[in-house]
Amino acid sequence: MTSEDVLKYLEENRESYVSGSKLAQELGVSRSAVWKVVSALKAQGFPIDCVRNRGYRLTGDMLSEAGIRKYMFVGAYKFRIYDIVTSTNDVARELAALGEPEGTVVIARVQSAGRGRMGRSFYSPEGCGVYFSIIVRPKRMERLLTVMAAVAVADGIEDAGGLDTSIKWVNDVYVGEKKCCGILTEAITDMETGGIDYAVIGIGINVRTPEGGFGKLKNIAAAALDGVQDALNKTVAKVLDRFYELYTLSERDEIVSEYKARSFLIGREVNVVKGDYEAPATVVDIDDDCRLVVRYSETLETESLSAGEVKIKL
Ligand code: BTN
Repeated sequence: MTSEDVLKYLEENRESYVSGSKLAQELGVSRSAVWKVVSALKAQGFPIDCVRNRGYRLTGDMLSEAGIRKYMFVGAYKFRIYDIVTSTNDVARELAALGEPEGTVVIARVQSAGRGRMGRSFYSPEGCGVYFSIIVRPKRMERLLTVMAAVAVADGIEDAGGLDTSIKWVNDVYVGEKKCCGILTEAITDMETGGIDYAVIGIGINVRTPEGGFGKLKNIAAAALDGVQDALNKTVAKVLDRFYELYTLSERDEIVSEYKARSFLIGREVNVVKGDYEAPATVVDIDDDCRLVVRYSETLETESLSAGEVKIKL
């Protein structure tokens, strides 16, 4: 019997207390073995309520494999869950370099050095968000990986009972005018074939508002699933299910049109970041390659951007 077995049983019976003897009988071990595992889980931070003469019950929201799988349809993923890492992207990259297969998901309850795009850091406090990285080994150079991830996050959040979401090109997910998710995709190319050896898609979602609020990020960050029960496990499950669907089944055109339908920048006034300088422009379209088509206000020239960053003018 492992602690995962105990968690799985408690997950499946969240609505009632399970006695120590029932658990022991179901898992084929002694009551004291169950007690030891439950104590270790509690010490690790799992919210397990223990009541004399009634037994054990899982109450709060804490990420676990059993907790995630409970809400998932897809069985193809392999999980590696950590209490704390520097960055799940770093761990996933190390594992992938050592041959870890496609479909492994590295999840952390906390990141001590979460990374964002453009060398920024990503705020990753405990219990308020989900931070995970998916290892993929696509056959060809896939610009669409990030696009798929953005659609999967937007759909997954809503499926888990969260707020309505939209996508800000290229890969931020928003609730209203504030960001609730960032995605950092890192690909390692195979020098011999010129294709991708592996890629790591790192996803960080603000699930609920931290106790003291978002602090200095309060004007730009928001949580997507405040008030949703068991939201951490549910969110990871729904995003991964949807990502699998897009990665394995969908037609390319379908992915692009879903992305476009969710994008809220078309028609908006923005500033295109060009190093130290910002150029005012209007977003005209998102093309079939998911490039952002902008018309510069000063020159009236049009450009299709395949990467980079734009700032929304409020
Ligand atoms: C951004 O908004 O600039 C991208 C943020 C990406 C954050 C996620 S959290 C999981 C994974 N690990 C990291 O260090 N970064 C990504």
